[in-house]
Amino acid sequence: MEPAETTVVRGIKLRGGPAREACFVVAQVHTEMRSAADMSDKSQRDMMHRECNQEILSLEIAAQSLVDFPNTPWELRMHLARQCWDEARHAQLRFRRLKELGGFKGEFPIINQEWAVVCMLDSLPARLAVQNRTFEAGSLDGLSSASRSWRDIGDTQTAEMIESILVDEIQHVRFANDWLKRMTKENPRILLDVASAIRRVESIIEALSPRLGNMSLDGVELAKIKRDVAANVDDRRAAGFTDEEIAEILRKESR
Ligand SMILES: [Fe+2]
Ligand SMILES: [Fe+2]
Repeated sequence: MEPAETTVVRGIKLRGGPAREACFVVAQVHTEMRSAADMSDKSQRDMMHRECNQEILSLEIAAQSLVDFPNTPWELRMHLARQCWDEARHAQLRFRRLKELGGFKGEFPIINQEWAVVCMLDSLPARLAVQNRTFEAGSLDGLSSASRSWRDIGDTQTAEMIESILVDEIQHVRFANDWLKRMTKENPRILLDVASAIRRVESIIEALSPRLGNMSLDGVELAKIKRDVAANVDDRRAAGFTDEEIAEILRKESR
């Protein structure tokens, strides 16, 4: 990767960009963001605003993989292209809801960390393992708990929107699981590549994570925020995780 395409955050080389309009303040680390740890009106808009950006990042990551790996089998390229279409629709849904809640583009800082980390990986199996099979699989858990939170405050409209997005996300995780199995069966060395990519990403995330005493813009200690997210067993199973993998996720959760 050319130096012009990279950036350095806390001493770690990451992919630079993606481009954003001038109205956005782009944070590099979470201390430059609000916490959005409650369901106040402002946090509701902040969540919708940052999730809208997350959808755009998922779109950009899938699109960049189409550009970076042109020799990928056609069927897999079609899955990535369909993912771009889904993520664009998700971003539109979030943006529309943000405006209905009284928010606007650029109202809160955004962070492009997923793009910066995932797009440094130099193989498609590594990107699928990290982006789809790890981050988006995590969103299956996050989205189901988010829909409960919105329902709890009586906002059925947002809860239903999130549930419709969740259905698409299952497919994004599923095709990655299917193709990773297929590719590693054909070439077992890919497993090594994927395992080292996951280790590398874990250490980067650790280095970028809030440390004790780090405060958000709204004065909340970031390392102490407890988000009530439980493993979404049914949807993970539908997304191609095996019973053993789900048992391992539940073991980690109980720790
Ligand atoms: Fe999405
Ligand atoms: Fe997705």
